[in-house]
Formats: sequence, C-alpha cells, structure tokens
Amino acid sequence: MFQRFRRTRLNKHLRALVRETTVNVDDFIYPLFIRPGKGIKTEVASMPGVFQMSIDEILKECEELKKLGIYSIILFGIPDVKDSIGSDSLCEHGIIASSVRTIKETHPDMFIVTDLCFCEYTDHGHCGIIDEESQTVNNDATLEISAKQAIIHAKAGVDMIAPSGMMDGIIETLRETLDTAGYENLPIMAYSTKFASGYYGPFRDVAESVPSFGDRSTYQMDPANRREAISESVSDELQGADILMVKPALAYLDLVREIKDNTSLPMAVYNVSGEYAMLKIAGQNDLIDYDRVVMETMISFKRAGADIIISYHAKEVAKMLQRKTLV
Ligand code: PBG
Ligand code: ZN
Repeated sequence: MFQRFRRTRLNKHLRALVRETTVNVDDFIYPLFIRPGKGIKTEVASMPGVFQMSIDEILKECEELKKLGIYSIILFGIPDVKDSIGSDSLCEHGIIASSVRTIKETHPDMFIVTDLCFCEYTDHGHCGIIDEESQTVNNDATLEISAKQAIIHAKAGVDMIAPSGMMDGIIETLRETLDTAGYENLPIMAYSTKFASGYYGPFRDVAESVPSFGDRSTYQMDPANRREAISESVSDELQGADILMVKPALAYLDLVREIKDNTSLPMAVYNVSGEYAMLKIAGQNDLIDYDRVVMETMISFKRAGADIIISYHAKEVAKMLQRKTLV
C-alpha cells in the first residue's frame, strides 16, 4: 500500500526541504547567575554545566557566547546580603544593576534581559513583601517595590525586563512606571503563565532562593488549570506586555499552543532547571543520546508555538547547529 508519506522521506535534502519546524541559534536566551566577588565559577551540583559566576567570569562567558552566536542573556543575581524586602535589588550598586553596567561597557552588543523578582534577594525566599497577618506575599506592596526595581534595571541600561513574580497587575504597573520615567522603548517580557512547579528545584539551589516557609502556590499557578493559564497570558497582553511566556515548558506544551492561538504576541518558553537536569543526568549515565534528545526537545517547543527558548542547553544547541549534526 504505497501512500505519499514515505516518498518525501527517502532523501535527506528532501527531508530538509519539507521540514516544518527549525531551531535557530537566535531563538535562544541563555540564563546566567551572577554573584559578587572575583574569580568565582562554581558548578551547581544539580545542574552539571551551569555555574554561579562573578562578574569577571561572566564577561569571559559573554565572549564565548558570542562566538557561538548567542547574543541574548537573562541575568539572575545572588547577593551576599538578603533581607525582608530584597534591598540589594533596589539599589543602584546592587548585584544586578552593577553587573548590567559592567557587561554593557565590555559587551555593548549583548542583549541583556533581567529577571525582575525578589526571591533571590529576600531572606525568606518569597517573591515579594510578606504580609504579617496572612503570612503570604502582599500583592500591592510588591507592585510598589517592583516598580522601583524596574527603574533600577532601566537606569543600569538593561535591554528588556522580565518580571517573574506572578503578582496581579504587574505588567500594567511596570509599563506605566517605565513610560512615566521616559523608558517607553524598554520592552517587557512577562512570565505570564508561570506554574507552581517542582521543576524549579535545581534553580532554587543555584539562586539560593528556597522559601523559608510555605510555598509559592498563593501567587504561581496551579498546574491543573487550563482556562486560567490562558487568561493569565491574555491579561498580560492587554496590560501591555511585549512578549508572553509559559513556564515550565515541557509539561505545558498544550498551553503553549493554546496561548499562541489565543494571543498575538511573540511567545517564549522557559525550559527550566529541572527539565535541564533530567536530560543532563540521563545523558551522563548513557541512558539517552543526549544531543539527539535535546534537539528533539527544542523542536517540540518551536512546534508547539514558541518563538523564543530560554534554556540552559542553549550553548550545547548552538554547538550542534554549528556542527550541522541532527538538523
Ligand atoms: C524567580 C524565578 C524562578 C525561576 C526563574 N525565576 C524560580 C521560582 O519561581 O522559584 C525558575 C527557573 C528554573 O527553574 O530554571 N521567580
Ligand atoms: Zn521570584
């Protein structure tokens, strides 16, 4: 029974011609973890190949990234001192503001995104200010300090901000704040649909941001909710976001497609720490063909509708693309 399907699979050039989805090096944003100091490059136990670095090492890393064709990075700061309101993130000399300035001086051609949140800067590890009475994050008090943090990032010269705290009304607040301060051209990538997920485990090790009590389910989304997931992203589009996001990626590809079909903004996926760790550890133990599975995974994001992939695999993918293997 010869149908048409196999005819276009018999030659590799024809397979390339009819391929519907491609992965390109400029689809990627690479996450970097910065801590104060000099000469620090500490590998994260749960994420082999991912490091906490001091700024001098970050500058070298940027050089390497550019050689691979990766120009976009997202920065996470790990300050030496944490307190109840995350003061380091609100200060012009804090780890993120000073790092953005230094990277821009040395690598003005890099596109720098900053994660805008408080969990890495607070001593309690939550994504905002804690309300004494309810013992959960106070939404509006957190909006206020988020606006301050956005201005700190903007003044430092960031190219795009990415609020990740899942506070209601954050996009509207930040857009207004930035416009009023004269930063009308600074884009916002919203962590618009972000779930309360076990897949963030390794990240909390590297960012040293495990909540000291409770969990994030009063602000991050319930993994069970589909309609709410779509509404969250639609709401951020209406509030003025420039790019939407689904996070984590792999367990939520159904929603990547649905949100793509229900909005008209570019879409990012965050291929998170736990997803990275699973493939990395399986690869290191020869349980899977690592390169092949990584590429297959990246293709699945694009096929589901993602335009942008934030991934710890980005450097490895760039190398695969340079070798032209697996594509
Ligand atoms: C902070 C933040 C988190 C991640 C990105 N920004 C963690 C969290 O919500 O606990 C997760 C990234 C990853 O797991 O790779 N709000
Ligand atoms: Zn946070």
